Amino acid sequence: MEGKDLRVRRAVESLQEYVPVHPLEEIGAELGIPVERLVKLDANENPYGCSAVVRDAIACCASYHLYPDPEQRRLRAALARYAGFPEDWLLAGAGSDELIDLLIRLVVEPEDRVLDAVPTFGMYSFLTPIQGGQVVSVPRRPDFSLDIPALLAAIDERTKIIFVASPNNPSGNLAGREQILALVETDLLVVVDEAYWEFSQESVADLVATHENLVVMRTFSKWAGLAGLRVGYLIAAPSLLQHLWKIKQPYNVNTAAQVAARAAIADLEHIQQTVARILAERTRLLEMLARIPFLQPYPTRANFILCRVEGRSARELRDALRRRGVLIRYFDTPLLQNCVRVSVGRAEDTDRLREELLALA
Ligand SMILES: Cc1ncc(COP(=O)(O)O)c(C=O)c1O
Repeated sequence: MEGKDLRVRRAVESLQEYVPVHPLEEIGAELGIPVERLVKLDANENPYGCSAVVRDAIACCASYHLYPDPEQRRLRAALARYAGFPEDWLLAGAGSDELIDLLIRLVVEPEDRVLDAVPTFGMYSFLTPIQGGQVVSVPRRPDFSLDIPALLAAIDERTKIIFVASPNNPSGNLAGREQILALVETDLLVVVDEAYWEFSQESVADLVATHENLVVMRTFSKWAGLAGLRVGYLIAAPSLLQHLWKIKQPYNVNTAAQVAARAAIADLEHIQQTVARILAERTRLLEMLARIPFLQPYPTRANFILCRVEGRSARELRDALRRRGVLIRYFDTPLLQNCVRVSVGRAEDTDRLREELLALA
């Protein structure tokens, strides 16, 4: 069909599509492998799923015919207990992806600039041009640490936001507290994306209390097993949040998601046990990967491990593992040459990955 002249905005016409992960059923059908034989290590999800308490809470909720609470009162009360910040310092979103979008929409005018430190999570550079902004990507150092002098030098009068993921995806390393403070001192909006905080247990959230231009973002997608329900939250000063409340869609976090996130906080001990299992498995996975002759794993503070692939193509390795039913991510960009990223799964997932890697050696 020929496209009608709908006058799509130029920023959208030239947009690079985001490459998302696809449903297991679709991949299983394409590969001719039953879904239960697939090992999903490509999106840093919690392989234990959500807890029985969360599933029951979702099943028992009787108000799906009503709109969700636009002010997320009960969810924010639970988040206040969990995150240790008052409710008026918290706002929930449909995943942290929505919160990234909201923050960009809050401050970016056409031609404004957004800084990120690459390689990093792709959503910052995906969402900025939709708003008409321009991403300025500052390379990290060879060990993936932030290059603070280069970030500071990249700031100009059109710079509006600096995004830093800590731990960073896909490299797994943390940003230093002093480094974040150096960025905050610029008075620009600094967003620290702590999507993997539960695995690193290191945060700069306490600095939000004294720095109005600092925002910390978190998510229920990784540690709490709720990626499919889309719940994230941010911690920010009420003076900044008041404006985000004005632009967020009223019913952005649906009822099932709000119920599930509250239940996850109520069932904290159980979920923290799965996090502890993932952390224990991370050590085992790292040791296993280090013994594979063609892989060089990097240290990590998150629930995934980045590996440099040596002497063969990372893409072909990803493809070969995929054909065998093991799903991982690969990267081959100038700053991240010939690498794969493996999420930490269950012990049986590590065993299966090992088996398939050895078969491909
Ligand atoms: C650094 C980082 N931030 C945010 C997200 C997205 O989280 P959510 O599922 O809450 O949108 C991801 C997911 O991969 C991530 O790696």
